[in-house]
Amino acid sequence: MKALILAGGSGTRLRPLTHTASKQLVPIANKPILFYGLEAIAECGITEVGIVVGHTAVEVKAAVGDGSNFGLKVTYLPQDAPRGLAHAVLIAREFLGDEDFVMYLGDNFLVGGVSDIVQGFIERDASTAARILLARVPDPRKFGVAEIAGDGSVLRLVEKPDNPPSDLALVGVYLFDHHIHEAVADIEPSARGELEITDAISWLIEHGFGVNSSMVDGYWKDLGDPEALLEGNRIALMAIRPLIMGEVIDSQVDGPVLIEAGARIVDSIIRGPAVIGRDASLQSCYVGPFSAIGDRCSISASEVVNSIILSDSIVDDVGAIEGSVIGKFATICHRNERPRATKLVVGDHARVELL
Ligand code: TTP
Repeated sequence: MKALILAGGSGTRLRPLTHTASKQLVPIANKPILFYGLEAIAECGITEVGIVVGHTAVEVKAAVGDGSNFGLKVTYLPQDAPRGLAHAVLIAREFLGDEDFVMYLGDNFLVGGVSDIVQGFIERDASTAARILLARVPDPRKFGVAEIAGDGSVLRLVEKPDNPPSDLALVGVYLFDHHIHEAVADIEPSARGELEITDAISWLIEHGFGVNSSMVDGYWKDLGDPEALLEGNRIALMAIRPLIMGEVIDSQVDGPVLIEAGARIVDSIIRGPAVIGRDASLQSCYVGPFSAIGDRCSISASEVVNSIILSDSIVDDVGAIEGSVIGKFATICHRNERPRATKLVVGDHARVELL
């Protein structure tokens, strides 16, 4: 069994962060989304992992390296453009050979790992060529949607339907045997110009191969947009191991809080769950529940709640920030000069909500 992790794509819904950075490397609870997936793969006992990379290949390679930190052996598979999930399987043909594999979308966050699902696929009956994971969602129109029989076998899949046949959305983890290679080679690009994995799985069903499904029992989210990212951050923070390695001076720390080495908290209140990165500096501030403050950030005379602040950013004397995602090396500060107007230098596709 091998693993194919998809870490290419364009990440338009997470702009402006993805103008300069890989979506899969945006951190939740200060750890890149992709690392949760790599850990889940390693936990299954799989070691050979192919990572599909696009225009952010350099950054992904720098973060993951040869995979040895995760106990994995990683091969990078460059994709010239985001031509679809089934296209990623197509370009991975040589790496995958005829082995079974788990395909894992690098921006998906799944609590509870995938060991049971992978084991279930290894023990499948001979007629099964694929297994998909499903989760009930309130608005299935944004997802690939499955219609299933009473025994869990998949009857039909539709991509982002106007009239969904069920509320069962496809989760970004799939298990395939070698028949998927015939499917991805035979399908045509969809109306949006991508080779769709739903079309490849439909191809398997139409050609008489068994496709079955399991429901995810834990938390799952595609962390493709800022709201989802903040939700994933809250879930990940609830699982942190509280530990104070930094320096805490004249401050109050309540609830589960991880303070990394070199961080310095002065005259502040930190209410967990929260994580404060390495060498961060907090002075006269309140960091409230569900906040992740990146390495080397400097926060002073401000309140930060339910937010993600990436590394090396400065927040100074700005009142309260809530439900925000702030990129790397950003500065948010109070303006003392006249005219007393808001002054902004904001990246493309950013969203700023002013009081
Ligand atoms: P998506 O979230 O469907 O696509 P995207 O990354 O282009 O994002 P957006 O819709 O915001 O523009 O992709 C799911 C995962 O698969 C994600 O980790 C990116 C990856 N991917 C590839 O590696 N190659 C591809 O061709 C596509 C479409 C996605």
